[in-house]
Amino acid sequence: MKGLILSGGKGTRLRPLTYTQAKQLIPVANKPVLVRVIETMHDAGIADIGIVVGDTHADIERALGNGSPWGVNLTYIPQASPDGLAHAVKISQDFLGDDRFVMFLGDNVIQGGIATLIDDFSRSEWNSQIVLKEVDNPQSYGVAVLRPDGSIEQLIEKPKNPPSNLALVGIYMFDPHIFEAVHAIKPSARGEYEITDAIQWMIDHHYRVFPHVHGGWWVDTGKALDMLEANSLVLEELKPTIATDAIIENSQIDRRVTVESGARIINSVVRGPTIIGKETVIENSYVGPFTSIYHHVTVLNAEVERSIILEHSSVLNIGVRIQDTLIGRYATVQRSDDKPRAMKMNLGDHSTVWIL
Ligand code: DAU
Repeated sequence: MKGLILSGGKGTRLRPLTYTQAKQLIPVANKPVLVRVIETMHDAGIADIGIVVGDTHADIERALGNGSPWGVNLTYIPQASPDGLAHAVKISQDFLGDDRFVMFLGDNVIQGGIATLIDDFSRSEWNSQIVLKEVDNPQSYGVAVLRPDGSIEQLIEKPKNPPSNLALVGIYMFDPHIFEAVHAIKPSARGEYEITDAIQWMIDHHYRVFPHVHGGWWVDTGKALDMLEANSLVLEELKPTIATDAIIENSQIDRRVTVESGARIINSVVRGPTIIGKETVIENSYVGPFTSIYHHVTVLNAEVERSIILEHSSVLNIGVRIQDTLIGRYATVQRSDDKPRAMKMNLGDHSTVWIL
């Protein structure tokens, strides 16, 4: 089986971070979501992976190269504009050839391996298998209606009045009949070639599409709150380690804390599950549960909890606790005693600040 990862799109709901970075490269528990997807595919025995890329092609290729660090072979498939998931499949036909394949959305984080699922599909005579999950907000996703015998009756993309709470998770398995479908469908009302419509086409043409309802958690990291949620869930499952060259002085670190190479924690309290990245310095500070601090960050005289801080940023001398926050790269959050005493901000477009 081959793999296909969709990593194009614009990531508008994660602005301003996505003005300068592909959303799929934003880390969750200090590892880019896209790397997590590649590792999941590798664990399922898939080594030959196509990756559909858009405007952020160069960034993604710089981060992943030919895939060898993860034991896979990556082929980049440029998509001129984000015309939909089925369009991404269409332009990948040469790469996929006659193989069965598994397709992952590059911004989804899912609990547990899916090796068994992929193995079942590779041996089966099904034309497609889709993964479903019960959710509270089905109107934000593709939604499936099942018949009493468990087979799929209908798939609808982001319905205003969802007929069920079963969302399509961003993992799909196909045989080459999907190409008939992606060539046959027309763009949806939002102007995209929807994979949901392509699968519906397969069902209507009597191809065998099997649903699997996923029991574990799943997060589509489209928005900042989803990133924080995915971060918390992954941190909870992380096996904590302390790098041998990390320096911990006069600090309380509980057993659910991971400290990466070269990090320094001085006069501080760190409560897990939490990860402190390479060469990061935490001094006179409190870092609370569900926080991921990436590499080369400085946290000085501050308190941070349930947040993600990206590389080369600084949080300095803050009198209030920072919580439920996503801080991008090379950002500074600091106290100022300059007159006049006021909140002063230098925010990127589409930023949001919540003030006490
Ligand atoms: O997350 C699950 C949902 O993903 C499903 O329930 C929906 O049925 C499915 O349509 C999709 O909805 P989204 O609106 O969340 O898709 P999004 O535009 O965020 O794109 C998902 C990934 O695919 C993302 O990594 C970007 C990439 N992509 C997207 C488009 C539209 C491409 O590579 N090319 C594209 O043309």
